[in-house]
Amino acid sequence: MKTLIDKAAETHSLEYKEILALIKDNSENEYLFKKADEVRKQFVGDEVHLRGLIEFSNVCACNCQYCGLQKDNSKVERYKMTVDEIFETAKKAVENGYKTIVLQSGESKVYSIEELCDLIKRIKQLDVAVTLSIGEKNEAEYRALREAGADRYLLRIETTSFKLYRKLHPDMSLSRRMACLTFLKKIGFEIGTGDLIGLPEQTDESIAEDIMFFKEFEADMIGLGPFIPNPDTPLKNEIGGTFEKALKVMAITRLLIPDANIPATTAMETIRPDGRIIALQSGANVVMPNVNETYYRTKYELYPNKKCVNEDADKCRQCIEEKIKSIGRTIGTSQGFRVRHNAK
Ligand code: 5AD
Ligand code: FES
Repeated sequence: MKTLIDKAAETHSLEYKEILALIKDNSENEYLFKKADEVRKQFVGDEVHLRGLIEFSNVCACNCQYCGLQKDNSKVERYKMTVDEIFETAKKAVENGYKTIVLQSGESKVYSIEELCDLIKRIKQLDVAVTLSIGEKNEAEYRALREAGADRYLLRIETTSFKLYRKLHPDMSLSRRMACLTFLKKIGFEIGTGDLIGLPEQTDESIAEDIMFFKEFEADMIGLGPFIPNPDTPLKNEIGGTFEKALKVMAITRLLIPDANIPATTAMETIRPDGRIIALQSGANVVMPNVNETYYRTKYELYPNKKCVNEDADKCRQCIEEKIKSIGRTIGTSQGFRVRHNAK
């Protein structure tokens, strides 16, 4: 296993079978995490980029089976922040030092594209990068959002298994999602994608395929988190993913795409205290603290016990900053775009 990990750390390239072997064998996990940390340091340095996350609406037209915000979950009290409210939240985050604002919501048409474009233009005047995470749109809409100034787009693939994707996403299609990612990339967005680890019926083979996909697609950012069963969803009785496995997939991804931006995800922190700090020491270089008012946070429960839900934005930033500094890392001072190296 060590030889395989060394090969990945040096060449940043593995065959499917080798990735699968790495996923299946747990004998050298600590070595893998250490190597991923080294590669992270070598390629993206000690800076941790903080992205201020605004979950601006939980209205959603989809029924992703694992997600607490799915349309059929009638327990959710739906909200829609006004454009002014979103802008004020962004402004406060920028005043607090954030260099990227991430606008995330359920997938819906409750805001017109014009409204979203105006919002993006206003936020761009604050001299920050803008990331969108608002799901599938048509090409004209994506183009308009890009022209309004949005820099990045997050759209997790969730799984690259057609069979599993279909089961988990009624009325959606994996090929359409891939087409969205391809188009977003073509029109110049930096692309973030990623996976859920530990979905029911997900196999190691399928996770290995996911990692191959991130590499082949040349994703700029890869967000990985354990699936956490939500009691208000059809998957409530499933087991869910483990911290260790999500961390492993993340570490392997760092070895294979050494210059990518990789977040330490909130889902990781949710199932393991200090999960984000452990992730930052195993290959991650980004954290996305929530900058919403606590009033809205409690209503954005993708999964139960989501971390930091009761902390206000200033406290959240302070808390994560202190932790980052305590492990000898620094807070990124730039907008944190991906800096490409000539790794194979
Ligand atoms: N557990 C973990 N992550 C989840 N997400 C949605 N529901 C869950 C859950 N139950 C993730 C999805 C989505 C992102 C915004 O949140 O991967 O892309
Ligand atoms: Fe839409 Fe989760 S199903 S945000």
